[in-house]
Amino acid sequence: MRLLYIHIPFCDSKCFYCAFNSYTNLNHLKKKYFDAIKKQFQTIKKQNFYTVFIGGGTPSTMPIEFYEKLFKLLSPFTKNTKEISIEANPTTSYEWLKEIRNLGVNRISFGVQSFNEKKLKFLNRNHSPSQAIRAIENAKKAKFNNINIDLIYSTAMDNKKLLENDLKTAFSLPITHLSAYSLSIEEGSKWEGDFLKRKEDEELEVWFIEKIKEKLPQYEISNFGKICLHNLGYWEGREYIGIGAGAVGYLNKKRYYTQKNVYEYLKTPTKLSVEKLSDEDIKKEKIFLGLRSIVGFDEGLLDKEEKKRALILMDEGKIYKKQNKIYSKDFLVADRLSSFILFGI
Ligand SMILES: C[S@@+](CC[C@H](N)C(=O)[O-])C[C@H]1O[C@@H](n2cnc3c(N)ncnc32)[C@H](O)[C@@H]1O
Ligand code: SF4
Repeated sequence: MRLLYIHIPFCDSKCFYCAFNSYTNLNHLKKKYFDAIKKQFQTIKKQNFYTVFIGGGTPSTMPIEFYEKLFKLLSPFTKNTKEISIEANPTTSYEWLKEIRNLGVNRISFGVQSFNEKKLKFLNRNHSPSQAIRAIENAKKAKFNNINIDLIYSTAMDNKKLLENDLKTAFSLPITHLSAYSLSIEEGSKWEGDFLKRKEDEELEVWFIEKIKEKLPQYEISNFGKICLHNLGYWEGREYIGIGAGAVGYLNKKRYYTQKNVYEYLKTPTKLSVEKLSDEDIKKEKIFLGLRSIVGFDEGLLDKEEKKRALILMDEGKIYKKQNKIYSKDFLVADRLSSFILFGI
């Protein structure tokens, strides 16, 4: 069964670090957006979905009427769907949370980033720490039993005390999952090229990750707690369908891209550009993604030289083998391990 991703390209404000396909000045297009999504959805093969993920942008900026229509469209194909996730901003109201839960969404992910007032201002977030706390409590009250928060670390403002306080607050709340993202300075974001916004401190990073692991098991480089089946599906190399402006799909060894520009997407939502992946591309991706998570990869993927290099890493205790699959001992250094196995560097 395939995964379904739906992209909502609208936000109430733009965070300085963010280069996602999201806009704050296109609210007048929200109404038309459903018709475009519907048009694109109607062109895909009718099928039951393993998981659904509504991401963004900020899906919680869309009114509940949008989701009533969306779930009418999806419901014939979500009868056996295990997990329906949505991303939300901490400014989301209790009413919205209750209604989205009633529509069948069973996992919610809040972009919290930090519980420190000054750090939130630094990142240009549009909410306070207390709004984030209330949103999480409201989600629990609205009967969400699967609640994630995103935190960002390795920003110039971070130190042990600040991060410790973030985790103390996080773990006092009814969360089942935490995503901790190391700040990346992205092209196309307000902070493009400004590497001073990031703190390069490997010791602090390792300390932070270990602190999270004391409370929640790590199952991927940035993810801890109750496994998100949708994301695990990507890392396992399952096929997925991407709906919405700038969404990506993966079917039959090809990657499909819809148009990023919202105006263009609204005009021709079924227009796709296609990238054919070679067996070599797919193999490399399996190794990179596998080592970053509990998924691992099949030893049989490796050629003779790669196997030799994998053996070196095994001797050094950095990777291990279990039933013909190879796993990383430390997800944080997974990219370095993959590069060594594949390219010897
Ligand atoms: C689509 S957003 C989550 C929902 C909503 N838009 C919000 O921010 O409240 C996905 C997550 O990606 C992470 N993110 C985005 N840009 C990032 C960057 N440059 N570095 C690290 N994490 C980033 C943030 O933690 C953010 O919560
Ligand atoms: S982090 Fe979330 S809220 Fe901020 S601009 Fe990006 S998508 Fe929008």
